[in-house]
Amino acid sequence: MTENIENLKKENMNLAEKIYIFDTTLRDGEQTPGVALTVDEKIQIAQKLNNLGVDKIEVGFPASSKGEIESAKKIRSMDLDSTLVGLARSLPQDIDAVLDADLEYVHTFIGTSPLHRDYKLKMSKEEIIEKAVESVEYAKDHGLAVEFSAEDSTRTERNYLFEIFNEVADAGADFLDVPDTVGILTPIMTHELITDIKNNFTIPISVHFHNDFGLATANSLTAIECGANQAHVTINGLGERTGNCSLEELVMTLKSAYGIDLGLDTTRLYSLSNLVGRLTGVKMPVNKPIVGDNAFAHESGIHVHGILNNSSTYEPMSPEMVGHSRRIVLGKHTGANAVKSKLKEHHIDLNDEQFCKVFDEIKSLGDSGKCVTDDDLIAIAITELASARETPIVIKGLSISIGANVSPTATVKLEIDGVEKETASTGVGPIDAALNAIGVLIKDTIDVKLDEYNLEGITGGTDALAEVFVICSDFDGNKANGRSTNQDVVMASILAILDSINKLLLIKRA
Ligand code: KIV
Ligand code: ZN
Repeated sequence: MTENIENLKKENMNLAEKIYIFDTTLRDGEQTPGVALTVDEKIQIAQKLNNLGVDKIEVGFPASSKGEIESAKKIRSMDLDSTLVGLARSLPQDIDAVLDADLEYVHTFIGTSPLHRDYKLKMSKEEIIEKAVESVEYAKDHGLAVEFSAEDSTRTERNYLFEIFNEVADAGADFLDVPDTVGILTPIMTHELITDIKNNFTIPISVHFHNDFGLATANSLTAIECGANQAHVTINGLGERTGNCSLEELVMTLKSAYGIDLGLDTTRLYSLSNLVGRLTGVKMPVNKPIVGDNAFAHESGIHVHGILNNSSTYEPMSPEMVGHSRRIVLGKHTGANAVKSKLKEHHIDLNDEQFCKVFDEIKSLGDSGKCVTDDDLIAIAITELASARETPIVIKGLSISIGANVSPTATVKLEIDGVEKETASTGVGPIDAALNAIGVLIKDTIDVKLDEYNLEGITGGTDALAEVFVICSDFDGNKANGRSTNQDVVMASILAILDSINKLLLIKRA
């Protein structure tokens, strides 16, 4: 970072002494269209949020269903370190449900904007203040910590927002929350709003920002820069419509840009993101910051070259910081350095000529729109190696006998490392019999299994050419494909299998 940026950061911030992370994955996150979590799933996520170290977990909206009360109670019985919060409208029965759920902290809300007053609540400003104050007092009288949200704060007249905030603060609220319910703020608007609130209130201020224009993280960060004491966040940015501020984005920006460590174990972020993705069915796009598959993936030659020399050249943080891992992807933009490093990773040694051929093949696969996996690279490199070396296993003879009411028998002769061996086996068909015989002959040399077998006739007629494509694997997890074309379908199958087995043998010996 340049000195100018360093100075800018220090001069413009009004950071609170302690910044609280209020996670609402289990409440607003569960309001993501199409998402419903079971009690057991909520328990799993709550445990992981606790292990991550968030300050508060909003476990649900107890008044909305019996299941919500049950899951809240079960989470409560887990004796977690995080404070457990229940959502409640500004109604005594909703606060009673939070008490029934045995929670210690209520997040109570009521709409305050003209739209909410006139079209949803059909209540006057005064009636809304009265309800808000009554519910804060009711909750405090029942021993709860209280956070009050003026729903749709950002479309509420400023003087009315301050009026209701003053009243609920006087009634004993512990936190005032500012929801940007439909995500209309920009960073500069957030700066103005939160600075104004902080200049007028001493009570801790929270923000709850939605992501309708993709600005929830930027706005939450701005709010914190202006002194907000807490941000509502969700794992993977889940939530109503386009979601809420993403926990992982906010926490990692604070850590990386400002060196603000909120005490969370950020190495748990990637696995927690995956758990939430799996349980909610909302998979993250590959380019999702911090936790997406591509967050630490590199393809272009220039970038990979930089990364291999020093990962900071093209990574703003290390993947280990968030429990993710770096991935070098081979494709159209790949440079020679990436391919060399991959080959080294897989202990494959090629001379310059072999390397050029492998590199050209990767480039041409990339040009045809294919992304080259590690398995593809190994297969390409091994094929290149195999073409230059003695093939360890060679077919020397084959005879098939088929008769009525007897199992087909294949007699196969192989030369394995220069030694001829022959055996006969039966099978359900001639191909099966031949493959069984090969299995017997190679068993002391390599242990493999056939994962995939595809047979295609590539020309018409009884003399059609058969093309066989197979994939075999060994018990170290290596895979290799094999291909052969022959007029005899049994011979095509044997040659394809031997092609694959020879590659696996070369990998093993390499
Ligand atoms: O977005 C919102 O306004 C909310 C409230 C319940 C705080 O989620
Ligand atoms: Zn919300």
